[in-house]
Amino acid sequence: MKVHVGAAAEFEEGDRRIIDVKGRRIGVFRVDGRFAAYLNICPHQGGPICEGQYFPQVEAVLGADGTLVTERSNPDRPQLVCPWHGWEYDLRTGVMVADEQIRLRTYETVVEDGEVYVVA
Ligand code: FES
Repeated sequence: MKVHVGAAAEFEEGDRRIIDVKGRRIGVFRVDGRFAAYLNICPHQGGPICEGQYFPQVEAVLGADGTLVTERSNPDRPQLVCPWHGWEYDLRTGVMVADEQIRLRTYETVVEDGEVYVVA
């Protein structure tokens, strides 16, 4: 079943919209010029993951001796942070940053005639 989300042109990069689909809340994000959709339930304890903040991944820069020199943001790796306990997920894929075995429930998205749909 395809569920209409809205016009693709309404979404700026980084925008999100949370829709209800038969009692399920699904977050739809525009990221890297495409759309990603996730069930709004964190695999940890059920927090509203799609309502969390997202930001570029913070990377450590190490010196030759392995000590921390500085940290930098990587805008190519946006992360979504659960508002309950802070688990972090790659916004592009839904994969948890600290454990790739854990991932958000994802949904296919399609854009047809400029309109965004979630297949749920
Ligand atoms: S419910 Fe999401 S981190 Fe705990």
